[in-house]
Amino acid sequence: MAYESKILGVGSFVPAKAYTNFDLEKMLDTSDEWIQQRTGIIKRHWVEGNVSNTDLAVEACKEAMEKAKVSHDDIDMIIFATLSPDHDFPGNACFLQEKLNIPAGIAALDIRQQCTGFVYGLSIADQFIKSGQYKNILLVGSEVHSKGLDRTPEGRNVSVLFGDGAGAAVIGRSDGESKVFGSLLHADGRFAKELWVAAPGTGNEEGERISTNMLDKKLHYPYMNGRQVFTHAVKRMAESLSTLMASHKMSIDDVDLFLFHQANIRINDKVAEILEIDSSKVFNTIADYGNTTAATIPIGMNDALKAGKLERGMVVGIAAFGAGFTWGSNIIVY
Ligand code: UT7
Repeated sequence: MAYESKILGVGSFVPAKAYTNFDLEKMLDTSDEWIQQRTGIIKRHWVEGNVSNTDLAVEACKEAMEKAKVSHDDIDMIIFATLSPDHDFPGNACFLQEKLNIPAGIAALDIRQQCTGFVYGLSIADQFIKSGQYKNILLVGSEVHSKGLDRTPEGRNVSVLFGDGAGAAVIGRSDGESKVFGSLLHADGRFAKELWVAAPGTGNEEGERISTNMLDKKLHYPYMNGRQVFTHAVKRMAESLSTLMASHKMSIDDVDLFLFHQANIRINDKVAEILEIDSSKVFNTIADYGNTTAATIPIGMNDALKAGKLERGMVVGIAAFGAGFTWGSNIIVY
């Protein structure tokens, strides 16, 4: 028997401590004016002390499960999207399972699609629900970027952009109008080193996973070719979403709300311009959280629900782009 999948409930969480652009002016050689003009970011939240990625995920998942009216006993798969896990291995899905007291024996999967993590995860969850193999899938995107950023003037081009946060959704069987219409997933590995963290890693020329030399060269911090990423993000997000809409014989007018990845307000404005989307239909959160990578889409979805901009029955177009390069899109009826 074939099933359709739908989002049963959404949750999100960001750590309490917010850092404004003015706070960053004191740490990095930057300015509120530069950050706002170039990115649209006003503040981001960063964890304190020993708070981990899965600590944030737990809070987002509890809200999502409560809203979905499912208990930890009902979850039969976890899909965890992150680039900043608690530990190198095992994956965050296993640590989250233990923290949420989800019974032994379920499937736990970590995926590494960075900013496209939630889009990939939603498509994977959709397939497992459609096949009938799983009934309630906990999909979470969570990041603790702050512990992996070069928060000195040397790292300013990347460090001002990223925030910590988590977003989660319970994906289950649809019994009516709400459903995942479809998804498109893409990658182009030729650009893998345009946005990456080289170390620790077994692919390093030195033959070591990590060394003091690598630390001295700051290879454990992200490198990004910002302009290259920007150009590709605009082109690929617009392309994926328009192809997906066309394959479902949909036009921009058929879509009620657009949730784009939150990397730069200028990227989203350009995507909207190319697709001729009225800006009132695009829900952005970057001003408040910065780029929370795998968490941007579910955080945006939850904020849109809270703001009354998203309701059951609305058609939502989702698109994201990130390291890999990876990119993709989903269309859902919420
Ligand atoms: O989530 C997916 C991955 N990320 C993205 O999608 C991000 C895509 N890229 C971008 O959003 C933009 O490229 C950035 C916001 C990262 C940078 O904006 P830009 O307009 O491309 O600036 P730029 O990197 O070309 O730098 C312009 C200037 C440089 O100075 P000079 O060489 O013109 O004198 C930089 O040194 O801005 C300087 N700069 C800064 N100044 C103040 C770079 N970072 C900062 C900073 N504060 N934080």
